[in-house]
Amino acid sequence: MPYHIAVIPGDGIGPEVVAEGLKVLESAASRFEFCVDIERLPWSSQFFLDTGRLMSEVPLDDLRAFDAIYLGALGDPRLERGLIERSVIMTLRLGLDLYINLRPIVLYAERLTPLKRVTPADVDMAVVRENTEDAYVGIGGSMRAGTAEEIAIAEMIYTRAGVERCIRYAFDLARKRGQRRKVTLVDKSNAIRAQEIWRRVFGEVARDYPDVSTDEIYVDAAAMFMVSDPARFDVIVTTNLFGDILTDLGAVIQGGMGSAASANIHPGRVSMFEPIHGSAPDIAGKSVANPVGAILAVAMMLDFLGEREAAGEVESSVRDLLVSGRIPSLDAGSGLDTAQVGDLVAEEVSGRVRS
Ligand code: IPM
Ligand code: MG
Repeated sequence: MPYHIAVIPGDGIGPEVVAEGLKVLESAASRFEFCVDIERLPWSSQFFLDTGRLMSEVPLDDLRAFDAIYLGALGDPRLERGLIERSVIMTLRLGLDLYINLRPIVLYAERLTPLKRVTPADVDMAVVRENTEDAYVGIGGSMRAGTAEEIAIAEMIYTRAGVERCIRYAFDLARKRGQRRKVTLVDKSNAIRAQEIWRRVFGEVARDYPDVSTDEIYVDAAAMFMVSDPARFDVIVTTNLFGDILTDLGAVIQGGMGSAASANIHPGRVSMFEPIHGSAPDIAGKSVANPVGAILAVAMMLDFLGEREAAGEVESSVRDLLVSGRIPSLDAGSGLDTAQVGDLVAEEVSGRVRS
């Protein structure tokens, strides 16, 4: 049976990087002998401008029929701010209850990081970002907008069930990763009293995992330590908003915004995979975007689908190409164009270049 995969290339550089991810997916499929059946979904800013239609109109059951969803990037300055992001990303994350946003941060080669005296051994962490609650639920609004009496409110929501399932996932992941077996809770419970729930649930869940060590730090300190001492982290578990911010920092630490991937997961159900970067309208259409984040998102998708060997091969191909310098950097404008990077990885994954 083929894997039934929905592809949403989206806006800006989304279609460019997704094309390379699919190239690598096909290469992995032929080497590891599985089939994929791709269905392209048109949701993008241009599609909205042309038709007035938004993805939020799609019945969720239509999406549940897929094994996985692969997304490029969304956002276009011609539209109302956040409209397309909410209609696609939030429909998927909240509608499909994709409660984990898993974002690995791995330094593949020392030259790629802007940090001094930091080696690949120091940067190997996974951020488990809660993905369905917090300030992202859209509860709030404003009144008397534009006047001196304006009031704007946004609520941060944390539920016992939502916090607990996320923290449990993080502890299970620390066990699975094996090496450092450590989970660090990142919150701001000194200033945001509602986040006390994270501390309490973290303490309770930790008791079920005596073999996993724990740490609890505030998000401001976490930002500082990610730069000054990244080796202290293994698995980080954090709220939706803090996870968003820290993973951009993480992406830059590992070499650039174009380099990082994410998995929006509901274990056992259709899940969504995307690079963490945005649509980058400033470089769209120039073939300079780095597709490595989109390609690593394919690796995460393969792992989720149970194609572990193929997933490992995609990741190790990227690693080998970065270590050897055949992919020289992870910045847009690495000297290679977008398709050349995709070709290199697809070739490596195919096994044909092996001696
Ligand atoms: C991300 C993005 C999104 C987020 C935006 C596009 C809504 O920044 O996936 O990190 O904030 O989650
Ligand atoms: Mg983000």
